[in-house]
Amino acid sequence: MSILFKIICLFLLILFLFRFFFTEKYLQLEYRFFSWYYKLSGIDAQFKTKSPSIIKTTSLFGIIVVFLIYFAGLKDMEKNKSNVPTQGQKTEIAETINMENANMETVYDFLKKCETYYLATVENDQPRVRPFGTIDLFEDKIYIQTGKVKNVSKQMAKNPKVEICAFDGSSWIRIEATVVNDDRIEAKQHMLDNYPSLRQMYKADDDNTQVLYLKDATATFYSFGKEPKVVKF
Ligand SMILES: Cc1cc2nc3c(=O)[nH]c(=O)nc-3n(C[C@H](O)[C@H](O)[C@H](O)COP(=O)(O)O)c2cc1C
Repeated sequence: MSILFKIICLFLLILFLFRFFFTEKYLQLEYRFFSWYYKLSGIDAQFKTKSPSIIKTTSLFGIIVVFLIYFAGLKDMEKNKSNVPTQGQKTEIAETINMENANMETVYDFLKKCETYYLATVENDQPRVRPFGTIDLFEDKIYIQTGKVKNVSKQMAKNPKVEICAFDGSSWIRIEATVVNDDRIEAKQHMLDNYPSLRQMYKADDDNTQVLYLKDATATFYSFGKEPKVVKF
């Protein structure tokens, strides 16, 4: 995207510079390529009398606008980049989690901070794993969300044992648990309220939305050079 943006800006800049410095040549070329259009639209005569000073003024204006758009775009891209935490920033965030008194909320905070975790299920004798992002704390339980039409849902219905793994850039977590389906509207609504973007696809009272909570869970936090920390909930 940034390359395309830069190429477009460069192209426009060259075009306007050419228009500004080689106005006569530009007019000839424009007439050669677009004479059919001017003839069709009946402004042939008007084109021929087009004043070079107007071309120069509009070109100058174009050059200024291209520069403004270019620098505004660059600033925006820099802003987006700085929203992605660097390795150092991630380490800093990780250290703010107090592992000494780690509990179920610590596990929730960690998964929420990672944004993406990987959920493994079992299908016959084959492990299946995929990225997940939904995580909710409701009535002192950690919930995940999916759609009943998905294979992941069918696998959990057949075998509710799951494993979750997430990495925040310096520490990682592994959670083994059993999932329990919760068909209550309020549990689904709570999840959807925390993930408004899901409302495009899911509704609390549709036949597809499914939320499940983790039961008999053992979560282990790992960090290089540190003793693993186990939390049961
Ligand atoms: C970053 C990310 C987060 C996702 N979060 C979820 C989620 O919370 N729930 C869900 O059902 N699907 C989620 N998905 C989509 C699933 O990974 C995808 O539907 C997957 O194919 C489901 O597994 P299955 O094919 O075994 O059914 C997410 C995908 C990505 C890339």
